[in-house]
Amino acid sequence: MIQIKDFEEYKAMYAKSVSSPGQFWDEVASSFYWQKKYDNVLNWEFDSPTVKWFEGAKVNITENCIDRHLEKRADQTALLFEPNEPSDTAQSITYSALSKQVNKLANGLKKLGAKKGDRICLYMPMSPELAYAVLACARIGAIHSVVFAGFSSKSLADRINDASCKLLLTADGFYRGKKYIDLKTISDEALKQTPSIENVLVLKHSGKPISFDAHRDVWYHSLVETQSDQCPAEPMDAEDELFILYTSGSTGKPKGVVHTTAGYMVYAEYSFRNVFQYREGDIYWCTADIGWITGHSYIIYGPLLAGATTLMFEGTPTYPDAGRFWEVVDKYKVNIFYTAPTAIRALQAKGLEFVQKHNLSSLRVLGSVGEPINEEAWQWYHTHIGKGNCALVDTWWQTETGGIMISPLAGITKEKPTFATYPLPGIQPVLVDAQGEEIIGNDVEGNLCVKFPWPSMLRTTWGDHKRCKEVYFSAYKDKYFTGDGCKRDQNGMYRITGRVDDVINVSGHRIGTAEVENAINAHDKVVESAVVGYPHDIKGQGIYAYVIANAQVENPESFAAEIRAHITTEIGALAKPDKIQVVAGLPKTRSGKIMRRILRKVAEGVTDNLGDTSTLLDPTVVESIIDSRALVS
Ligand code: WT7
Repeated sequence: MIQIKDFEEYKAMYAKSVSSPGQFWDEVASSFYWQKKYDNVLNWEFDSPTVKWFEGAKVNITENCIDRHLEKRADQTALLFEPNEPSDTAQSITYSALSKQVNKLANGLKKLGAKKGDRICLYMPMSPELAYAVLACARIGAIHSVVFAGFSSKSLADRINDASCKLLLTADGFYRGKKYIDLKTISDEALKQTPSIENVLVLKHSGKPISFDAHRDVWYHSLVETQSDQCPAEPMDAEDELFILYTSGSTGKPKGVVHTTAGYMVYAEYSFRNVFQYREGDIYWCTADIGWITGHSYIIYGPLLAGATTLMFEGTPTYPDAGRFWEVVDKYKVNIFYTAPTAIRALQAKGLEFVQKHNLSSLRVLGSVGEPINEEAWQWYHTHIGKGNCALVDTWWQTETGGIMISPLAGITKEKPTFATYPLPGIQPVLVDAQGEEIIGNDVEGNLCVKFPWPSMLRTTWGDHKRCKEVYFSAYKDKYFTGDGCKRDQNGMYRITGRVDDVINVSGHRIGTAEVENAINAHDKVVESAVVGYPHDIKGQGIYAYVIANAQVENPESFAAEIRAHITTEIGALAKPDKIQVVAGLPKTRSGKIMRRILRKVAEGVTDNLGDTSTLLDPTVVESIIDSRALVS
């Protein structure tokens, strides 16, 4: 296991990772438990793309997350669970208990007919059982597809169908803050259109009554209770799929990003240990949801691979009040705390009184992820949460990268607010210009690509390898394209400036504008729509929708409410537009392309100097859009 100790070592290690990548990764991989060691470290070409790490190995990630720790850590806490309601019972699960729970569920899944290669959908609350479920799938070689429990029944059905999942794991329901999410009812609705699902495993979590189909539904606890707590770990090939995770892109249809076993495992541990500078005995808390990649890599896999104690939180930053995060930090004496800029800004806006009630002296490392962190939020986090003496790591990465790519190493890399700073050893970022040429030198700006493979990179998009090639490997020859714009300063430090494609980042959630447009257009009162992002104080970006209705809109407020309700059922509440403006037309070029640049400016509040509009089919449409800004709801 490799843990960099100082900046000199970082530089040496980085240089080695570029000059001898095979040797470098062979050393990183040597600390894992391989049922059979690999023959080759790496085989790749970005043209198709084909990327194979640690070929020839037999390995199971759960033996590395659990079994190999049992000798030394059986009684150490693996998982801490803090419920939404502060007065509800918290849980502390040792490595030994985790092993039993995972094995019992793995045996239960087998009893339901699940086997290696089957896809299993997890639509669950942030409960310990979700962690067991992820690991139980990996134990038997089934491919997990976690769907964030805020998505609608339609989104859930689409994801189940895209991967032809055989089983669905869900729960009766749960509270997020004060809001009750009726998971079973939403699932039942989705299940009307998911022929591949054979059984539904239902966790009793809230205890509220639900409808239960005795032929299809099985109670989690009654299945698991009678199972053995021993279950052999399926021998997996290095490149066998570990999981699918859906994420939004430029087109209307979310894509299933596929991560495979060995490379993902190696990188999750390596990046966790090095970025956060994990120390034996640390209490580590990542506030993300397991429905996103951050939860996969840095609540479950990374920390457990490192033998750490990882805290899972079911609630929200502001329930019962805006001091909840800090209360939980004190309660568990958290040493490493990892959250999103949007949460920091939301809590900053509530005032310092919620922070000052708490001690926070256990904190040593703070992390940020999900979107560019603005200077003000960085300083507030550093000063008021870190008390000026915690390391602060701004970690840049993506669902597709599987793990943190560009980030300070806590306490080792000199920090610069709003900069993700330097790539981890093994990561070779490059900036490219509009012509696709690599931009050499410092104090430059361009599109961010990566020119050499890393172990946890996506391998394909489920069921559509062509799309993977087109989206990520075709824009620039022999490079992986991230979709982000980026600056490199005079010292070679990287600052990610945001997406350069039609993807917006709302509270750290990635949303494709085309996806929202499709949903709006499906409403029977809508002719057409265009969706853009605009700067939002708390969310980073807000969603702004321009909508052409098919009849006179008498009451824009109630029209907007209808559209929002419609999007909640089509996608989920997270994709609800913050602003909806009814317009008579959209600015289109003669070839019919919507000029989004103009719509983005108007959404920002800019109404003059809109740039060249001469190529528009009808330039007067712009004025009418500016005039109808009063119709925003
Ligand atoms: C996009 C990926 C990876 C975990 C959560 C989001 C943006 C992420 C940062 C950061 C600036 C960031 C990028 C990226 N992003 N982290 N530290 N600084 N931007 O995963 O949903 O796959 O979104 O989030 O735009 O492309 P995701």
